[in-house]
Amino acid sequence: MDFGPRVFPSSHPLVLHKLTLLRDVNTEPKKFRELVREISMLLGYEATRDLALKQVPVTTPLAETTGYSLAEKIGLVPILRAGLGMVDGIWELMPGAEVWHIGLYRDHKTLQPVQYYNKLPVSPTVQVCLVLDPMLATGGSAIATVDILKKWGAKRIKFVGIIAAPEGLHALTKAHPDVDVHIAAIDDHLTPPPSSPDDPPEGYIVPGLGDAGDRQFGTG
Ligand code: PRP
Ligand code: URA
Repeated sequence: MDFGPRVFPSSHPLVLHKLTLLRDVNTEPKKFRELVREISMLLGYEATRDLALKQVPVTTPLAETTGYSLAEKIGLVPILRAGLGMVDGIWELMPGAEVWHIGLYRDHKTLQPVQYYNKLPVSPTVQVCLVLDPMLATGGSAIATVDILKKWGAKRIKFVGIIAAPEGLHALTKAHPDVDVHIAAIDDHLTPPPSSPDDPPEGYIVPGLGDAGDRQFGTG
């Protein structure tokens, strides 16, 4: 499957090792949160490899030389709830980043995103936004968040997720072809509408990891 030049699935062995532990149904919330944090840090490293730099003078114990400093202000934009767990790992890499929360939940019947929190200031305060959400299923939540950020005036936006369904990748890259997408894995498909009470609900990623919010916060 070709999702175009802006989709970057990770091939890093540490990411793939940790992702396997994350998927495991027996992984408890504490370990699950640690893994989300660690995978996010590794994906954050990959997603920031083209950030702009400016030259700055630096004095070492031995000499004056020229070094580099990040030239752009970065905004981390976690989609509540599940995106929250991705903030700390990436923030550690870029402690000067701003964090702007967007609250969306997916309506269980329609699978459409419903916004419940947005406190973005009137005009943008950052040059690069990293949208954080572990799961890209239908793509509705990610598309809605990028819509919000573009309306806000954000010029450069990247999506950083952990597992994506092909359906969500197609939808996001079609709606926002200028957005880079960094993910740990592209899975097989989404669950169809249930035909018996034993079936899982519609719109879950298979094989996936279940509900990323519930597994982090112990609410499932
Ligand atoms: C999950 C996930 C994404 C969304 C993905 O959130 O964290 O935000 O679903 O699905 P989509 O690509 O079809 O929009 P959920 O709505 O379950 O909310 P939660 O994070 O609060 O649990
Ligand atoms: N949200 C999740 O948390 N998991 C899925 O598989 C799909 C949406």
